[in-house]
Amino acid sequence: MVTVLVLGGGGQVGRELALAQWPSDTRLIVRDRTSADITNRRGVLRLVDREGPDLIVNAAAYTRVDDAEDERDVAFAVNATGVGYLAEAADAAGATLIHLSTDYVFDGTKDGWYSEEDQPSPASVYGESKLAGERAALRARKAIVLRTSWVYGSARPNFVLTVRRLARERDELGVVADQFGCPTAAKDIAGAIVRIVEQGASELGLFHLAAPDDASWWDLAEAAISQMEPPRNPVLNRLTTDQFPTRARRPANSRLDSSKLLAGYGIQLPPWRATLASISAELNSR
Ligand SMILES: NC(=O)c1ccc[n+]([C@@H]2O[C@H](COP(=O)([O-])OP(=O)(O)OC[C@H]3O[C@@H](n4cnc5c(N)ncnc54)[C@H](OP(=O)(O)O)[C@@H]3O)[C@@H](O)[C@H]2O)c1
Repeated sequence: MVTVLVLGGGGQVGRELALAQWPSDTRLIVRDRTSADITNRRGVLRLVDREGPDLIVNAAAYTRVDDAEDERDVAFAVNATGVGYLAEAADAAGATLIHLSTDYVFDGTKDGWYSEEDQPSPASVYGESKLAGERAALRARKAIVLRTSWVYGSARPNFVLTVRRLARERDELGVVADQFGCPTAAKDIAGAIVRIVEQGASELGLFHLAAPDDASWWDLAEAAISQMEPPRNPVLNRLTTDQFPTRARRPANSRLDSSKLLAGYGIQLPPWRATLASISAELNSR
């Protein structure tokens, strides 16, 4: 029996981890923020000591990128200090810590795809806090850090759901067309984590885990709207980053090269349009 403890079970990825097809010999324990706050060191240590997990999967995070600019302490408490507690607890239990991070650890100035070898240089408080969290996780004796990108799914607020709502409400939308990343579905991230666990989580360290192809926010919006039923055809204007100012700076390029994960675990996610189509079908049927 393999015991897997998931933290952050109420989030996009956390929910998909709870729904995923785990091997039959898995004892899966999923905790959301109300039942396990990762900033509570004693609580984390006690929970891990009681459940004795073989693996701890951390899907908990402070993800409000703009708010983090004004809530630095809270963002660091969850994204860095709390992760340190999980690393400490994992070491005490002899468990492997699987932790999620973000493409926003990069400033976006590279010309090309980012590999795990590239030097992070976050442009936002959120990115700084997540980079500190990666380092805290990697201090555990057995840790896997999975950097992902532009996460969306069928539940909880995310870009795809927002665009679908706006397309129903408005005849004209403006979407940023000069930032590029790899739109990655929460259910694909969860599926990849299951496969890593199935393979004994034997390859440790830092990996990129994102869709293999890129998009701008405009591309993603255009595809999401084109898949809506009943159809909607708002005018979709291309905006520059300067025309859509946000409190936190976002990288213009956060394309993640996930080939190390393919080499280490044989895992490659589907192209983003394929997964988006299946999520759109699910949303259309509601
Ligand atoms: N969303 C993206 O576009 C994106 C992109 C790249 C990387 N990532 C990374 O991918 C991972 C999963 O993201 P996601 O989209 O699933 O995020 P999400 O939907 O915001 O879920 C995060 C979850 O963590 C919970 N949480 C917050 N503080 C907590 C605490 N102190 N203790 C326990 N739980 C806490 C939140 O609780 P509440 O429900 O109460 O808020 C929420 O349920 C994160 O590491 C994130 O940084 C996300």
